[in-house]
Amino acid sequence: MTEVQRGTLLFTGKAKAMYATNDPQILWVEYLDQATALNGKRKVAIAEKGLLNNQIASLIFRDLANHGIENHFIKQLSDHVQLVRRVNMIPLETVVRNAASGSFERKFDADHLMPFTQPVMEFFYKSDRLDDPFINDSQIVALKLATPTMLAEMRRQAQLINDRLQMIFAEMKIQLVDFKVEFGLTAAGKVLLADEISPDSCRLVDDTTHESLDKDVFRKNLGDLTTVYQEVLNRLSVVEGGR
Ligand code: TMP
Repeated sequence: MTEVQRGTLLFTGKAKAMYATNDPQILWVEYLDQATALNGKRKVAIAEKGLLNNQIASLIFRDLANHGIENHFIKQLSDHVQLVRRVNMIPLETVVRNAASGSFERKFDADHLMPFTQPVMEFFYKSDRLDDPFINDSQIVALKLATPTMLAEMRRQAQLINDRLQMIFAEMKIQLVDFKVEFGLTAAGKVLLADEISPDSCRLVDDTTHESLDKDVFRKNLGDLTTVYQEVLNRLSVVEGGR
């Protein structure tokens, strides 16, 4: 690969800034040292957060690729930067749940962490203006956000990602309660896992203490986010290093 150089800023999100590069197929992703909640209404600078999430997401994307789940990750370039394949993002959040928490718990008044006999899958329409509403399959197709074939492929991949992530986190003595992923379309029309997988986008609970090891620490003011994310990275590095 010729040396990739950062180009113009394309977009700044809640946790990442995306830049073009001198290669039209490659994007430069900078993980920011900040956390947001309430759809960006609450924003706080947090030292090290970008660095920790970049390392965690890089480790997870590499692991998934090694286990047959292709994704947009190319390589980690520095503490805060990774290079990814450019895709056209599908404006949906795909959520997989293994136990009741968060919006599922609130919506159905379910017991906290009630385990599910089979994973629950939900889609949310990515729209800040509409506050990312829940959306069902026929609504997705009606709005032309994805075709039925793309939806089936997203479900298939989300299931495989859940299987693999559950295995990794089990080795880390962590329960994977739920997580969110996003997919994009390659120029050839392939559905490809993109965005990030990190404690910002997963609910993780320590097997022994039942403490949150994810962004809920920030959302609910439960403690120091950096300490918790560092703990996740430490456990992940041990698991990965032992392979
Ligand atoms: P929820 O229970 O609030 O619907 O969240 C389900 C999962 O999705 C949880 O692991 C957190 C993650 N998530 C995001 O990554 N981004 C978001 O904007 C939201 C609302 C949830």
